[in-house]
Amino acid sequence: MPDSGITRILITEDEIKATVERLGAEITACYMGIAGERVVIGLLRGSFVFMADLIRQIKLPLVVDFMAVSTYGDGTVSSGDVKVAMDLDESIENRDVLLVEDIVDTGNTFNKIIRMMHNRNPRSLRICTFLDKPSRRIAHVDIDFCGITIPDEFVCGYGLDFAQRYRNLPYVGVLQVE
Ligand code: IMP
Ligand code: MG
Repeated sequence: MPDSGITRILITEDEIKATVERLGAEITACYMGIAGERVVIGLLRGSFVFMADLIRQIKLPLVVDFMAVSTYGDGTVSSGDVKVAMDLDESIENRDVLLVEDIVDTGNTFNKIIRMMHNRNPRSLRICTFLDKPSRRIAHVDIDFCGITIPDEFVCGYGLDFAQRYRNLPYVGVLQVE
């Protein structure tokens, strides 16, 4: 039975585990041949659960940093504005950067963050997202490592929220629309 407020489970814990293992293997293989230190950057708050699992599946030395950005208020509709609430501690200049996001929806957030990151002159910049909702894309985003493509439904759990709730669900569920 899903938790209250969730109509159905879209992605089970087992599916999440398999997806994260696959992504970790893909990322490890990709960076294996690249000398130099990788910086893995999680976009807060949504990516923190995924980040914690993903970095343990990347079998290479790396540095972790976080950036807090927000596009959504406490609703399900994107405002299109990206606010940087907490910037990186690390300099990314001349380093190999992997940006980690919970979900790419309209693409507005990532599109802006990617441009901001490029201005800081990383040696390389790659994108990993746990979920992809391509049906709602407005701004183009080149995703290098994609977990699961989902239909146009508002989902919660495994770090993803609705009004800051449901982030602790171990699965991804579809939110009940009132
Ligand atoms: P975008 O700028 O429209 O791509 O939105 C990206 C951000 O919106 C994500 O990082 C999430 O925080 C949030 N978001 C988009 N779709 C969902 C969803 O289905 N559930 C929870 N958060 C979502
Ligand atoms: Mg987010």
